[in-house]
Amino acid sequence: MVEITLENLRKTFGDVVATDEVTLTLKEGELSTLLGPSGCGKTTLLRLIAGFYIPDSGKIFFDDRDVTNLPPFKRNTGMCFQNYALWPHMSVNDNIAYGLKLKRFEGKKYTKSAINKRVKDALELVRLEGLGERRVHQLSGGQQQRVALARALVIEPDVLLLDEPLSNLDAKLRIEMREEIIRIQKELSITTVYVTHDQHEALSISDKVAVMDHGYVQQFGSPREIYANPQTIFVADFIGQCTFIDGVITSLGDYLDVKIPNGQVISGKPTIEGYPFEVGEQVKCAMRPENLHLSRTSPDDNEITGTVTRTIYVGSALEVYFKVGDIAAQSLLKPEFQIEAGTEINLYAPRLDVMILPVGGVDALRKVPGHPLFQASRSAPTPSNA
Ligand SMILES: Nc1ncnc2c1ncn2[C@@H]1O[C@H](COP(=O)(O)OP(=O)(O)O)[C@@H](O)[C@H]1O
Ligand SMILES: [Mg+2]
Repeated sequence: MVEITLENLRKTFGDVVATDEVTLTLKEGELSTLLGPSGCGKTTLLRLIAGFYIPDSGKIFFDDRDVTNLPPFKRNTGMCFQNYALWPHMSVNDNIAYGLKLKRFEGKKYTKSAINKRVKDALELVRLEGLGERRVHQLSGGQQQRVALARALVIEPDVLLLDEPLSNLDAKLRIEMREEIIRIQKELSITTVYVTHDQHEALSISDKVAVMDHGYVQQFGSPREIYANPQTIFVADFIGQCTFIDGVITSLGDYLDVKIPNGQVISGKPTIEGYPFEVGEQVKCAMRPENLHLSRTSPDDNEITGTVTRTIYVGSALEVYFKVGDIAAQSLLKPEFQIEAGTEINLYAPRLDVMILPVGGVDALRKVPGHPLFQASRSAPTPSNA
């Protein structure tokens, strides 16, 4: 098992900057997810870790070993591609054995019986016992995914790399395979990097999530951290639902006071530790739908008043969409509650649950001294002053 350290990685394709300034430590035995919209650089980063691409600059370490310039077969990683990349007319056994036949163990080729034993173990691990003689094209999508997983695992990799492994499966199979991946990952305690664009999938599967946008990692943390303490507006918006209200800071303290366009002052809490907010600074107040309540929880609660535009009854809750001036807002209320479109609604947001975020995106985090996203751990840190 290895710990993966990515240090200030940059990869371009001609004019396109696919990923830049990526500095992360992916802990031994953990499942870390690269999450972000299509085109944000997830596959590029995964391929850099696998060795299919060499970065323009930056370094990759597996434990203390600098693997930045090593070819893929010298990194001992197992990779599952989005389209499985199996040979449809070969048997399941042959597909799985393929990687082993190329590989050498202590300088020698694997013997036939050693290969057979390992293929059998890998089939058991992914619960496909007895299907080894089948041709891949005779298998369902879920079974093919299991073969791809077995093929990645049969070489006993130090690192497992999965690129959107569930995206070709229907909803029910997706959940089943997701749980299988977690089971296998925990059983082997293998350091795993998992790519997805699906925030729900990322939250359900990950020890840590790296939220990416336009090639940059915007935040790296546990699912709880990124949901409860988003570090950028993009992260708050991409993970879960949020109402955003623009405003200007009027006073600083444990809580920040923010004047919003209707003249009201909203009090909230910064989510970024160490960010130097200033009076007069343009910010956004972000509120999760479940943090807007029908009654006060404390005299300090912010009162939010708006006009209901639509309600959706979802059984377990009532989603209420409303407008505060021009701003579209949403709340998640008890299912018993009833209210009609066009009516005024008063809701209460505890100060602790109003997240105050700077408007500068990931660049704003550079103002935080020693911010981990811009702090390389192994080489000398490059001071950033943007
Ligand atoms: N081989 C390539 N040649 C040119 N551009 C590429 C190549 N691979 C990726 N890109 C570009 O790099 C950016 C990131 O792509 P990618 O890593 O595939 O994103 P994701 O996996 O998040 O969808 C995109 O703008 C994409 O068009
Ligand atoms: Mg991709």
